[in-house]
Amino acid sequence: MLQDIKSLQEEIGSIIDKLDSQEKLDAFRLEYLVKKGKIQALFDRMKEVPKEDKPLVGKELNVLRKGTEAKYKEIEESFTKTKKSSPTLDLTLPGRRSTKGTVHPVLQTMNEMVKIFQDLGFAVAEGPEIETEFYNFDALNFPPNHPARDLQDTFFIDSDGDDRLLLRTHTSPVQIRVMQNLEPPIRCIMPGRVYRNESINARSLAEFHQIEGLYIDKNVSLADLKSTLITFARKIYGEDSKFRFRPHFFPFTEPSAELDISCFLCKGEGCRVCKYTGWLEILGCGMVHPNVLRAGGIDPEVYSGYAFGCGIERITMLRTGINDIRFFYDNDVRVLGQF
Ligand code: DAH
Repeated sequence: MLQDIKSLQEEIGSIIDKLDSQEKLDAFRLEYLVKKGKIQALFDRMKEVPKEDKPLVGKELNVLRKGTEAKYKEIEESFTKTKKSSPTLDLTLPGRRSTKGTVHPVLQTMNEMVKIFQDLGFAVAEGPEIETEFYNFDALNFPPNHPARDLQDTFFIDSDGDDRLLLRTHTSPVQIRVMQNLEPPIRCIMPGRVYRNESINARSLAEFHQIEGLYIDKNVSLADLKSTLITFARKIYGEDSKFRFRPHFFPFTEPSAELDISCFLCKGEGCRVCKYTGWLEILGCGMVHPNVLRAGGIDPEVYSGYAFGCGIERITMLRTGINDIRFFYDNDVRVLGQF
């Protein structure tokens, strides 16, 4: 028996170092290590061994089995290790490129606009996105039955009390908050997000951004308004762009106007983008209505001012050539990464 153990040990010793593939290793296991394998076969013969020899034979058998199993494990591990580590060892593979984030085009426009107005001496103010009906409409001289107050245009929030809560539909309510908190002269811009109950399509979203401007001092005139806005528009659209002011109506300004830029696509000839007018509207503006000054706690007999407001997405569309406003919020880096 001891002789058989020794010869099996030699047999194993002669092949175990040559197991250089997973297939060979598997074959080895099936021949020696499984229940029907050669080592177990020797264990099965223990019953033939005389009692006095059992301890020695048993010990030799155990040494053989343990040693073989340990060696088997070692070889198996060396295979899985090289498998796992091989990719990191391939120094010829090209490196992985990590993409850099970019500032969202809408935010880029907003930052640029803020910078232009800061250079003109305007400070930045912000107000809440959840507003009261008073700030969003009443204080801005909207009549009680104005259609903008309708559920179809405005997102109202369930609330108790007379002054209903809503998601602000424009940044103009921040004008009132600024007037209530600061003494004239006031020179502020107020960027922010606004909400309207609109159907979503290529030209409109229920959520977008505006920038509001307010200038209040003694003897502020329409000429001040025009010169500031033209200076701003030239910086954003280029020195040689053409502009025009067109009379308009807003409840919170009197007189009111809209500022148009000559269509950059057709250069004023008329095309689909400018609806064949040659002009594109870029902002609303006007002289602050006396009722609005009063709502802000400012005496209209002493002070006057101008205000303006414009949509940032729209300006960004004009500048980037993105022709569907939804692209801004689809968050597709193939689109946004270009700017
Ligand atoms: N609040 C207006 C809107 O959402 C934009 C606007 C027009 C703001 C004229 C003004 C202004 O301050 O004077 O359409």
